[in-house]
Amino acid sequence: MEVLSKYNDALQRHLNETVRVKEPTQLYAPIQYIVTLGGKRLRPILTLLSCDFFGEDFNKAMPAALAVELFHNFSLIHDDIMDKAPLRRGEETVHEKWDINTGILSGDAMLILAYQLFENYEPHKFQELAKLFSKTALEVCEGQQYDVDFETRDDVTLDEYIHMIDCKTAVLLGAAMKMGAIVAEASESCKNNIYQFGRNLGIAFQLQDDYLDAFGNPETFGKQVGGDIITNKKTFLYLTALKGSSAEEAETLEHLYSIAPKDPSDKISTVKSIFEASGAAKAIQNEIASYTQKANNYLDAVQISSEKKEKLIHFGDWLMERTV
Ligand code: IPE
Ligand code: IPE
Ligand code: MG
Ligand code: MG
Ligand code: MG
Repeated sequence: MEVLSKYNDALQRHLNETVRVKEPTQLYAPIQYIVTLGGKRLRPILTLLSCDFFGEDFNKAMPAALAVELFHNFSLIHDDIMDKAPLRRGEETVHEKWDINTGILSGDAMLILAYQLFENYEPHKFQELAKLFSKTALEVCEGQQYDVDFETRDDVTLDEYIHMIDCKTAVLLGAAMKMGAIVAEASESCKNNIYQFGRNLGIAFQLQDDYLDAFGNPETFGKQVGGDIITNKKTFLYLTALKGSSAEEAETLEHLYSIAPKDPSDKISTVKSIFEASGAAKAIQNEIASYTQKANNYLDAVQISSEKKEKLIHFGDWLMERTV
């Protein structure tokens, strides 16, 4: 999106600085590797954009934006270990390229580096940012634990699923935006409303991630398509398909989500056809649109120009149409 490129260019320069490799290289090289693989950089861009929209020089939010992106990349390294994922951003995952221990420790170091970046702020802002960051990081851990717990549970509800993705993904998008607002010294009400905007977009974002995990194009998606099916993730697609299927198909689906075949290709194709036939693949699109709308409703109470609000709405629409 054109409007975002000014933030992205500045961010790129600072990110490269932040992840320079030093001794011991076994610790720092994987950090540089994952970060320079790129990705969409959505969260730090949202931090910079939010600071800008609340009337402050966006460069002041740079340390917070870098912290958010480092934290996100740390969570990806550990997530890929937990999900046994072979591919990230079109390349080998850190634990595949190196090994699991390297992924654990380089990830830990990234989390500390993220915290350190808040030292750039004066005590009052430092406290507010670090407090939000700690709360959010703990929620992400909670979400990740639920996500893993759900793999082996067969009684997960849709409400539980939404709570899980709120924790593992959505709160970080909300916090990314709120950090920009904190740096810009926006009012409490603006900080809270922009948090809820980001958070609801985050729920839509994770729903879309789950959709793409099943239906994305393997040539361009950058991750293993079908990974969630292989690991029996109880996503919106699965839970909705169970409800929308005949007893026989529901039984097939439940059975497929209790096994781990060596060659998963038949499992993946059968599950995908049930996702489509049951209406779940359609239903998730409506759910994505509905959370995006919910996000937009929070903009009413945000004190920025309607032109800026339009840009945020446009951003949400653009997210819905993404293919990576
Ligand atoms: C991946 O996030 C993890 C989720 C929360 C879905 P992104 O899709 O933002 O990953 P990158 O940073 O663009 O690679
Ligand atoms: C990841 O969710 C959320 C976090 C990294 C905290 P996913 O497991 O769906 O993310 P991807 O699909 O591997 O990027
Ligand atoms: Mg994963
Ligand atoms: Mg995961
Ligand atoms: Mg995913």
